[in-house]
Amino acid sequence: MRNPSPVSLDKQGAVGLIRIDNPPVNAINHDVRVGLAEAMAQTARNPELKVVLIVSTGELFSAGADINEFDRPLAEPSLQTVQAAIETARIPVVAAIRGLALGGALELAMACHYRLANKNAKLGLPEITLGIIPGAGGTQRLPRLVGAGRALDMILSGAPISGSEAASIGLVDEVVEGDLLDAAMSFCRRLIDDGLGPRPTCNRTVRPGLDDAAVAEALHKHARSLKGRSTQALVIDAIRAATLPFAEGLAVEAALAQKSLAMRESLALRHVFFAERAAGKLDGAPTEAKPFEIRRVAIIGAGTMGSGIAIAFADAGRDVIVIDNAQPALARSQEFIRSAYASSVQRGRIDQKTAEERISRIAGRTTVADAADADLVIEAVFEDMDLKKQVLASLDAFLPAERLIATNTSTLSVTELGRATARPGRVFGLHFFSPANVTKLLEIVRGRDTSMEALQAAFQIAKLVKKIPVVSRDAFGFIGNRMMLDGYFRESEQLLLEGASPAQVDAALKQFGFAMGPQRVSDLGGTDVGTKARIQLYKRESRPDPYFVIADRLTELGMLGQKTGRGFYRYENGGREALPDPEVIRLIEALSAERGIARREISDEEIVERCILALINVGALVLEEGIAARASDIDVVWTSGYGFPRHLGGPMFYADSLGISHVAERIRHYHKKLGHYWQPATLIERLASAKSSFEEWDRQKV
Ligand SMILES: NC(=O)c1ccc[n+]([C@@H]2O[C@H](COP(=O)([O-])OP(=O)(O)OC[C@H]3O[C@@H](n4cnc5c(N)ncnc54)[C@H](O)[C@@H]3O)[C@@H](O)[C@H]2O)c1
Repeated sequence: MRNPSPVSLDKQGAVGLIRIDNPPVNAINHDVRVGLAEAMAQTARNPELKVVLIVSTGELFSAGADINEFDRPLAEPSLQTVQAAIETARIPVVAAIRGLALGGALELAMACHYRLANKNAKLGLPEITLGIIPGAGGTQRLPRLVGAGRALDMILSGAPISGSEAASIGLVDEVVEGDLLDAAMSFCRRLIDDGLGPRPTCNRTVRPGLDDAAVAEALHKHARSLKGRSTQALVIDAIRAATLPFAEGLAVEAALAQKSLAMRESLALRHVFFAERAAGKLDGAPTEAKPFEIRRVAIIGAGTMGSGIAIAFADAGRDVIVIDNAQPALARSQEFIRSAYASSVQRGRIDQKTAEERISRIAGRTTVADAADADLVIEAVFEDMDLKKQVLASLDAFLPAERLIATNTSTLSVTELGRATARPGRVFGLHFFSPANVTKLLEIVRGRDTSMEALQAAFQIAKLVKKIPVVSRDAFGFIGNRMMLDGYFRESEQLLLEGASPAQVDAALKQFGFAMGPQRVSDLGGTDVGTKARIQLYKRESRPDPYFVIADRLTELGMLGQKTGRGFYRYENGGREALPDPEVIRLIEALSAERGIARREISDEEIVERCILALINVGALVLEEGIAARASDIDVVWTSGYGFPRHLGGPMFYADSLGISHVAERIRHYHKKLGHYWQPATLIERLASAKSSFEEWDRQKV
C-alpha cells in the first residue's frame, strides 16, 4: 500500500492550504515534491480558490532537500518543476515559515509570490558547507529579492539569518510575532481583499549585478571559512548570471551546481557530513536505548577542563555541581565561567538573562560527597592514576550503584580506573577537548567492562551537550592522540631533526589546510602539557627514541611555549606572534648530532607528504587494532577535534582520494629511506592489493 502523501491540501474558504508533513524535519524529498505538484495542480483546477498558502506541520518549515538524493539524478518532479508550477500559478502563492527554512526549502519559499516568517525563524542557504551551490534557483532568485551583493554574502556564509533580518532585506514580506497560521490566513485574505495577484520573483531584475568590489569584499569577509576552498568561484559565476534572462540564469546555475556535485571538495564535505551521522550511531547495540535522564551533573576538578565541561552542561539546561578540594581553584573556575558567559553576551550569542540563568545553574563545592545527588559524575582532576582511582573509589560510599561515572582522562586506562570502583560496568571515558565548551569532538572511551547500556547513555550525554561522539577502545592515546603522537606530530619532529625548521614545517602544514602547524599548536598548549601526557602514556606503552626529544628538551629548559615567551618560537612582550629562535635551531642541531642524523634541505612537499602519510598509516593501525570501529570515525575525530581540513574529508578519506596503492607505495618508499616506524600498516597493504579503499572497508563491515 502506498504511504499517505506527506502533503495535504485543504480548502479554507478561498484559501487553498497546502501542508507539508514529513517528520522529523519536513525534508523536501521525492514524495513531498510529488505531493506539492499534485496539490498545485488541484488548486489550479479549482476556480473557487483565490490564494494558495504553503505551511508545514511541526516546529519547522523544512530543513531542505534530502541530502541522500544528491548522488543520483533527481526523480521528477524536480524541485524546479514544482517551483515553476508555483511561480506561474494564476493565483498568488504564499509561504509561511516557522522555525527553519534552509537550502531547498528557502528556494521553494523564494519561488512563492509572498513570504511570511516568525521573528525567530532561521532562513539560509547552507549548501556551501557541503561544497555545493544552491541548485534550485537559489542563486537566481535570492539576488532578485535582496540584491546581488547581499545574496553573495548569504550564500558564501552559509549561515541562516533571522526572520526579522530577512524582512529588513526584503527576503520576507512580513514578520509574525504571534500565531503564524492565523497571521498567514489574514495575510491571504488581505491579498484577496486588495485584489493583489501573483508576483513572480523570476520577473524581477537584478540591478546592479555583481561588481568586482562586492566580490572582493565578500571573499575577504569569508576568507577564513573559505580557506583552501573552491566552491565560492562557482557561487560567484552563478550570481553573476542572475542579470541574464531568468531561464538562461537558471541554466547556468544548473550546470554549475552539477559541476559542484562532482568536485572532490564536495565529495569530501558530504563524506564528513555522513561520517558524523554514522559516528553518532552505536554499532551492535542490541536494544533500543533506555532514555537516560540527567537532571544534575557533578564534575570533580575545577580546572581548565572541569570548568569548560560545566559550561557545556549548563548550556544544555542541566544543574551542575563543580567540586574541587582547593578553594582557590574553585574561585578561579567561577571567574572563568563568568567571563566565558560575559564574552558570549558580548558577542551577541546569548542575552544577559540567559547568561545569568546558566551561571546560576552552576554551584561550587569542596567535598566530593556533594556529588551524591548527581545522575552523572565526571572526574576531571589531575592526570594521576592513583589520585583518580582514589577519587573514583570514594564515590561508591554515597553515589547509588546505578549512577554513571565518567573520566576525562586523556592518557590513563579507563578499564583500570573503572575497576577502582564497585561498578566498572557503569564507568567510561568522556574525553572532552579543550576548550570543552566549544570543541565539537567527544571521544567516548569504552573500557573493557563498560556495559552497552552505559555506552548508550554516553551517546545520549553527547547529544545533550551537542557534541559529536566517536567511540574509542581503551588504548594508548585513544584515537586522536594516538594518531597525533605516533603519526603526525612525531613525523614533524623527525623532520626538524633531519633539517627542517619549526617555521618551515608549520608553514607547509598550514598551507595544506591546518589552521596551525604542529609546533605552533605545541607552543600554544604548552610543551609541558605534552611532556606530562607522554610520561603517563609511557606507563602504558613505551616508544623508541627519537620520540618528542625536542619538545621534551624544551620542557626541561622551562621553554613551555607562548605562556613563558619561549618554546619552539620566541614571543615578545607577551605577544602571540611566533618569531624564529636561533637558539632553538641550535638545540635541534645538537639533538640531531647526538643521534647521528645528517641534516639536509627538506622540501615543503616532503614535509606535507610525510606528516600526512604518517597520520594515515597510524590511522590504519588504529582501525586494524579495533580502537576505532570505522575509518569514517577517524575522519570525524580529525576534522572535528584536531583541525584537519574538513574540505579534504579527514585523513582516511584523503588517503582514498590519493589512492591506497599510491599511499602504500609512498610509505614503502619512506620505509626504505628512513627505516624504523615507516612500515606500512597491514591494512593498507591489504587494501592496496585488493584495489580497495577505506570507504569500501567501512561498507563491508556494515
Ligand atoms: N587540558 C587539556 O587540554 C585536557 C584535554 C583533555 C583531557 N584533559 C584531562 O582532563 C583532566 C583535567 O585536566 P585540566 O587541564 O583541567 O587540569 P587542571 O590542573 O587545570 O585541573 C585539575 C583540578 O583538579 C583539582 N583536584 C585535584 N585533586 C582533586 C581532588 N582530590 N578532589 C577534587 N579536585 C581535585 C585541582 O585542584 C585542579 O583544580 C586531566 O585528566 C587531563 O588529562 C585535559
